[in-house]
Amino acid sequence: MIEILIVAVWLMLPAYIPSPLAAVFGGGPPIDGGRNLSDGRRILGDGKTYRGLFAGIIFGMLAGLLQMYYLTVNKTLFSVELPSFAGYGANSTVVIFALAFGSLFGDMFMSFFKRRLGLKRGAPMPIIDQLDFVFGAWLFTYVAAPSWFIANFTVSVVITLLILTPILHLITNVVGYLIGVKNEPW
Ligand code: CTP
Ligand code: MG
Repeated sequence: MIEILIVAVWLMLPAYIPSPLAAVFGGGPPIDGGRNLSDGRRILGDGKTYRGLFAGIIFGMLAGLLQMYYLTVNKTLFSVELPSFAGYGANSTVVIFALAFGSLFGDMFMSFFKRRLGLKRGAPMPIIDQLDFVFGAWLFTYVAAPSWFIANFTVSVVITLLILTPILHLITNVVGYLIGVKNEPW
């Protein structure tokens, strides 16, 4: 139980880091350039910025590279054997990038749909808000390194993450709201 929790969080760290760091460093020019679609609504909205995107990718990748460095020193954490982002024919930098970028892409992709539904920036969309980045990260990682993905994201890891992520997401966002980097506590 504890073992699967540690492995699951370890694997997802490069995907978990980007969103909160995007909230800390975000702002400035929006990715959609302020443009609307033909429905008269923003393409993505002011909550998706270049600064947030780049900061998220950089810190997500930094986390993954530090994890790879940790593995060269120590193969375990609390005596749980840690998985690597390499192996099964995968390049660790590619896998880490796919996790980091995929998570922010999933978040942007759902912002696109939220705007099409007429939801304003920051409007809550339960379940989607908590899991869009997880599915984005999984999709990109699967495409980038299918064998690595299947070997590491086992059914029990996936189930653990589907339960754990919304809890972690809520805690992170309440903290983000309290310290003033997020406009809403979700
Ligand atoms: N952020 C950013 N760039 C991104 C993602 C996030 O700048 N690519 C920043 C924005 O300041 C955003 C905050 O992180 O307000 C929180 O992200 P999120 O909750 O995803 O955005 P919302 O403001 O809720 O917008 P949306 O309704 O589109 O989800
Ligand atoms: Mg939001």
